[in-house]
Amino acid sequence: MPSEDLTRDMKRTVGIEAARMVGQGDVVGLGTGSTAEFMIEELGRRVREEQLDIVGIPTSFDASVLARGNGIPAGTLDDVDRVDIAVDGADEVDPAMNLIKGRGAAHLREKIVDSMAERFIVIVDESKLVQWLGTKSPVPLEVLPMAVRPVMRAVEAMGGEPVLRMAVHKDGPVITDQGNMVVDARFDGIDDPGEMERTLNNIPGILENGLFVGLATEVLVGRITGEGRIEVERRT
Ligand code: A5P
Repeated sequence: MPSEDLTRDMKRTVGIEAARMVGQGDVVGLGTGSTAEFMIEELGRRVREEQLDIVGIPTSFDASVLARGNGIPAGTLDDVDRVDIAVDGADEVDPAMNLIKGRGAAHLREKIVDSMAERFIVIVDESKLVQWLGTKSPVPLEVLPMAVRPVMRAVEAMGGEPVLRMAVHKDGPVITDQGNMVVDARFDGIDDPGEMERTLNNIPGILENGLFVGLATEVLVGRITGEGRIEVERRT
């Protein structure tokens, strides 16, 4: 397993590469997470030093604070009629470029913004690549608080193992930007991600799940070569 420093370098490399794909005048979906943070920093540098004229659409409170801190003009979906390019991280990426997202509990807004984008660029280090979704990560579900127990029972009935996500530096459960809770549903590998995405979203009380199927247009993977250098593999 690569060291924390190397993993960080892989994330930084793909983040910077993705920020370079943004063009003058673009409406840009700003993803959430440690990899997207590098992309937002580089976009901010381009806004300041290269007079890049863009509007960012943050996918979370965190991304919106980062956008402001890096001098990126930010708007909402009320201000724009399109998203030209969205850049976001992922927890798992399968060979068909389907994803699991939501480790940071931002997947509801992420899916809204990422699904609108003409180009949705996913940025990951190589540890995120899997043969089958669900083999390493659970599927995060954003759930209305009053529906947590019924949703957990419904997930169990599907053969999944649901766990209410608990906060780390706060007592009690994680509360999303929308005031909801997160149930992490573990399945032992997912045969048909599209079917699973639809089935989960059909359970009353689930507002969105972390399966992103058929949305990514390109994946940038940070890899370590045999010589210990970092290279970017592009998948389309
Ligand atoms: C946020 O809820 C997530 O979807 C993140 O985009 C995803 O977990 C990737 O995060 P890292 O880039 O920090 O691994």
